[in-house]
Amino acid sequence: MLRVAVIGSGVAGLTAALGVTTRGGVEVTVVSKARLDRSTTHAAQGGVAVVSSPDDTVAAHVADTIAAGAGLCDDEAVRVLCAGGPEAVALLIDRGVEFDREGGSLARGLEAAHSHERILHAGGDATGAAIARALIDRLDEAPITVRENTAAVDVEVTAGRVTGVRLLDGESLPADAVVLATGGAGQLFGCTTNPSIATADGVAMALRAGALVADLEFMQFHPTALAMPGHRLVSEAVRGEGAVLLDADGRRFMTEVHPDAELAPRDVVARGIAEQMARQAGAPVRLDATRLGERFLARRFPTIDATVRAHGLDWSREPIPVTPAAHYVMGGVRTDLWGRTSVPGLFAVGEVACTGLHGANRLASNSLLEGAVFGHRVAEAILDPGVAGLPQEPDRRRWAEPLELDASPGPEAFGRTDLQHLMWESAGLVRDADGLAEAADVLAHWAPPAVTDAKSAEDANLWLVARAVVASAAARRESRGGHHRRDVPRTDPAYARHSTLRMVA
Ligand code: FAD
Ligand code: SIN
Repeated sequence: MLRVAVIGSGVAGLTAALGVTTRGGVEVTVVSKARLDRSTTHAAQGGVAVVSSPDDTVAAHVADTIAAGAGLCDDEAVRVLCAGGPEAVALLIDRGVEFDREGGSLARGLEAAHSHERILHAGGDATGAAIARALIDRLDEAPITVRENTAAVDVEVTAGRVTGVRLLDGESLPADAVVLATGGAGQLFGCTTNPSIATADGVAMALRAGALVADLEFMQFHPTALAMPGHRLVSEAVRGEGAVLLDADGRRFMTEVHPDAELAPRDVVARGIAEQMARQAGAPVRLDATRLGERFLARRFPTIDATVRAHGLDWSREPIPVTPAAHYVMGGVRTDLWGRTSVPGLFAVGEVACTGLHGANRLASNSLLEGAVFGHRVAEAILDPGVAGLPQEPDRRRWAEPLELDASPGPEAFGRTDLQHLMWESAGLVRDADGLAEAADVLAHWAPPAVTDAKSAEDANLWLVARAVVASAAARRESRGGHHRRDVPRTDPAYARHSTLRMVA
């Protein structure tokens, strides 16, 4: 019997878990630290980018992904994603996801930096919830043990190979293969669109297990979170439908920043907004969707419409305040194109993983697709290691030698909000050498809490991953995609490689 433990119940984890049940002789457990539907997947709005119309091509989707990635995408990973997209989406539909339709065909939206309308959506702007619901429903029919409200704290490794997972209550769950599908790290920052589960647990577990991580300096800040408590996302699809950004005087300013204005790549729009906010003493800019009309906004964006109205705003009549917020981490646990990490038996997939696919800046709506495509490949590689071939060393022309992170604890306790504030100020949208050096010192002075409950486990993980993010950002002395340094604002071809990092004792 092959024992597989999948940590996480978003699109990536559930696709991998359902995938491994397609063959007998496998015992699968899904471990999720909250309710099954408490995932970033469930919060996803805009949709899934996939080629689904005769005028679009896989080559165009590949080209758009590579252009957004600022010279750092792994071409083969991009090809695997885009070429595998149509089949992965067909599988989602087969599993019960009902994408929106117009006149009998799939409805397709436009988002920033896409050359074609190729974003499939469900429930208007509730795409992630539709995907999460459909996959969770399928679990009942599959031979899968579900451990809800159960946090994994560490991967167990014996003689260099994975042997299981340690849970928060101290229980050891034996496994021949462990799949980290724990999602993102938005909670590193005080201002984020991410749900509370996004505490970088998988990256921290992988570091402690001795695995290589990569590209952690590349953090994507979404341009438009509602500038009100909670920082709820206002999807890029709203700009895709024609909404524009206005400064405090009611003037469009993105037209002066980039030829594609509001639909320029995400990092460009987010920085354009941050610079405009700095010019207007920190006041948020405004997103003007009034031209779309009340009925259209309510029908096409029901979730955002309800959120905006719950904050006492009527976006069909007045522009709404928006601000950039931490949204997605391009880096993660370094994997090959079958989700294999540098530790035998340990796999990673979805936002927690780094195949190199997103380069320095993820193209909008490529993440749900990544979970669906690579979740399936991880399952294939677990069931039939032969299909993935022998693990290969990363190509050193594209993957730099690992930085070594000494993560010894300091003497002082810290609070999560202190860490989030430090990261926002020093390793946020715009960084520099001095701020990063100071952040590294402060983090080195802090002690991770002893793990006694779910919150302390998360805080210890946030501390460790914050150290890795700061070290990676300090080492990349250039600006590229989601990593922008005010002291070195240019992109330097000498840095056109993925960074890698491992923890030393
Ligand atoms: P998640 O969906 O985040 O799932 C992670 C799972 O791991 C959760 O179940 C969590 O509880 C569990 N977990 C974490 N740590 C532990 C632990 N220690 N022990 C046990 N369980 C653990 N992308 C798109 O492509 N299209 C979109 O429209 C889109 N919209 C977005 C909107 C918002 C508001 C946000 C924040 C992101 C959006 N993204 C979108 C990004 C995308 O939603 C995520 O990158 C993607 O859903 C990640 O999926 P995942 O399966 O890797 O992780
Ligand atoms: C959005 O709807 O703007 C988010 C899409 C994404 O993060 O890919």
